[in-house]
Amino acid sequence: MQNFFYSIPTKVEFGKGAIAKLSEFVKEFGNRVLLVYGGGSIRRSGLYDTVIRQLDDNGIYHTELSGVEPNPKVGTADKGVALCRQEKIEVILPIGGGSSIDCAKAIAAGYYHDGSVWDLVQDRTLIRQALPIITVLTLAATGSEMDVFAVISNPDTDEKKGLSSPLVFPKYSILDPEYTYSVPQYQTASGTADIMSHIFEVYFNGVQGAYLQERIMEGMLKSCVHYGPVACAHPDDYEARANLMWTASWAINGFIACGKAGVWSCHPMEHQLSAYYDVTHGHGLAILTPVWMEYILCEKTVDMFVSYGTAVFGISPQQDKKKIAKEAIRKTRELFEAMGLSMTLRSIGITDKSNFEAMAEKAVAGGTEKCFVPLYKQDVINIYNLCF
Ligand code: NZQ
Ligand code: ZN
Repeated sequence: MQNFFYSIPTKVEFGKGAIAKLSEFVKEFGNRVLLVYGGGSIRRSGLYDTVIRQLDDNGIYHTELSGVEPNPKVGTADKGVALCRQEKIEVILPIGGGSSIDCAKAIAAGYYHDGSVWDLVQDRTLIRQALPIITVLTLAATGSEMDVFAVISNPDTDEKKGLSSPLVFPKYSILDPEYTYSVPQYQTASGTADIMSHIFEVYFNGVQGAYLQERIMEGMLKSCVHYGPVACAHPDDYEARANLMWTASWAINGFIACGKAGVWSCHPMEHQLSAYYDVTHGHGLAILTPVWMEYILCEKTVDMFVSYGTAVFGISPQQDKKKIAKEAIRKTRELFEAMGLSMTLRSIGITDKSNFEAMAEKAVAGGTEKCFVPLYKQDVINIYNLCF
């Protein structure tokens, strides 16, 4: 097990009615709030009205940035920064999924930077301070409600990159699983694939001895395998939504990587799909993951696949190791398909291969040669081709 530093300062209010605490949390940091939300799901669900009523009743000034895109764009975050300065905002309140929360984080850090937030994405050492963030989560997927990342897209350069700083950990996150009842099946399935991928990225690395973390990760994966299909079939199943929500938060808040940190594989490849084709992050991951698993299956990795297959899917250990590994990968693909996700790049609108080379170059730029099985540019092109 590696050495590690552990600190997850985000405070969580979890469960039915958690929103009642919102104003109390806000008032700890100020009285002037910027709401940040997406295309209108929170208005349709009634959450918007609940929040506004509560802020008004408690004399909290609010203004808003709406229309944050899935795969939030740098221009939207820059607009939010200008609004914060103009309105003397003290607290940022994203209400939504990862896109709204990520945009809020970029705004929070951008407020203290003289220039575009894209500068902070390019160079995280420029992040010196951030406005406090309080999130209200409506989609279990990215874990942004409890982590240090904000993933921002720049359409001018076809780039999608993560900004990262402990300064953007949300101060509080309000997690009411009932707010995810309205998430459509497609987003529920994509979100589940995203949660699982965050776990796979840590689970499948070469660090030895993190026995505890590996068993915890298997438990988290089992929750996804069990409850992902339940939430797809029964959107208002509280236990399914609650278990997915809490798993999502813990899948990427740094905890599972304690003692088992490493370089990620599928996310760098997926971020290029989103950057070039604006695809849904979790769906891109669902397509890449089984293909990547098959690609890296070898003598060095087979034992981890055996652990995964036997612990998560209950595959009998009394068989040839490669057979267990292949069965585990097949079951992973079948799970995504059963939740309604298509499994080719073509099916999500990527109809030619002309960008694969440029995308692969960007995907490996973050050091994927240090992955469990090294991924070089040609490997990424091969994986894109196999997914096509
Ligand atoms: O925009 P609205 O109208 O709110 O609709 C959203 C959007 O269309 C909808 N939705 C959200 N909650 C809903 C709902 N619809 C009905 N009922 C609800 N309760 O779902 C759609 C997708 O929302 P979005 O926020 O884009 O999804 P997600 O949470 O998956 O976030 C994706 C973004 O997060 C990044 C991704 O790359 C992508 O840009 N990631 C962020 C990470 C992080 N901060 O740590 C890590 C991840 O790996 C990921 O890269
Ligand atoms: Zn992800």
